[in-house]
Amino acid sequence: MLVKLQQYRTIWPNTALANCSGTVSIIDQTKLPHVFEIACIENLHQMITAIKTMQVRGAPLIGAAAAYGIALAMQEDASDQYLQSAAFSLIQSRPTAVNLNWAVQRMLNLLLPLTAANRNQAAWREAANICDEDVLLNQAIGQHGLSLIESAYQQTSSIANQSKVFNILTHCNAGWLATVDYGTALAPIYAAHNAGMNVHVWVDETRPRNQGASLTSWELAQHGVPHTVISDNAGGHLMQQGLVDMVMVGADRVTSTGDVCNKIGTYLKALAAFDNQVPFYAAVPSPTIDWAIADGLTEIEIEHRHGDELAYIQGLAADSSIQNVRVIPVESKAVNPAFDVTPARLVTGIITERGIFSPDKLIFTRQD
Ligand code: MRU
Repeated sequence: MLVKLQQYRTIWPNTALANCSGTVSIIDQTKLPHVFEIACIENLHQMITAIKTMQVRGAPLIGAAAAYGIALAMQEDASDQYLQSAAFSLIQSRPTAVNLNWAVQRMLNLLLPLTAANRNQAAWREAANICDEDVLLNQAIGQHGLSLIESAYQQTSSIANQSKVFNILTHCNAGWLATVDYGTALAPIYAAHNAGMNVHVWVDETRPRNQGASLTSWELAQHGVPHTVISDNAGGHLMQQGLVDMVMVGADRVTSTGDVCNKIGTYLKALAAFDNQVPFYAAVPSPTIDWAIADGLTEIEIEHRHGDELAYIQGLAADSSIQNVRVIPVESKAVNPAFDVTPARLVTGIITERGIFSPDKLIFTRQD
């Protein structure tokens, strides 16, 4: 994606494969939208911290980051024991998004049969492959989603009113910042905008960490896509007013039966969409589908994050410094589940790199 007219991915290696010693650059998402800063990750420990503190975040991106975490670990110590413990620590760092576990298992499957001497170089190559594949998957999601938006647009706009704005509501950030590039839920929106369609995005602020207000709005602005930030509570009202044509979200894990686990608050948007006959789509690359589970409500571990994410809010102070201010009484406790599960019955369709599927027909996308 373009940032100030320069092409970026969210993560990239700084390594010469000849000597197999490298570092990894990431866009530090904790500073956006106020400061665009690249952080340099030098070892496994720093990568785990980057994932836990959400310098990198979003299901596909934390998968890619974990793959590079393994590569960094292999240049520290390529023994079986260190590989296994690095894998374990990475998987523990954020439990809900299945992409992280998927990427680590893929690295383990490749590296464990190799001799320790061959692991370092192979790990850097495979992490780069995972990143390149993520970009291709998201491009394909963008194209499938574009045809969906085009046909929905034709249904909602009459011949006399071809300039109608097509309003899409999204939650959290499932754009290019949440992936290596292009995004999942935002990929079709970028494709529609690039195709000249009159799309406008309602951006849920997404408390408590405000990924919508800080990240989705920032990347849409970089690309020139018309958008408006709304409070998390406004979506249902806008749907009742007929101001939302489609809801498009990403996902951290989708079950084989089409239950969609995504950022906390997604479920409430799905309920409101269902009540107002607004189509609700989740855009997910296949590594986000967990074929091993069928019941999202009982089988997905929901990450609980620290209550301070609710107690404090981050913003730009008058002196241009980024500051945290407290918004709840010191006496009050806060509980902070980071994700929720939208049952398949509320989901109109799942957009994957292989096409658009009804949640109960998702099994046909399975590749193995
Ligand atoms: O806690 P986060 O910011 O990592 O949560 C991200 C989301 O919930 C995204 O919607 C999801 O990962 C899909 S990203 C393509």
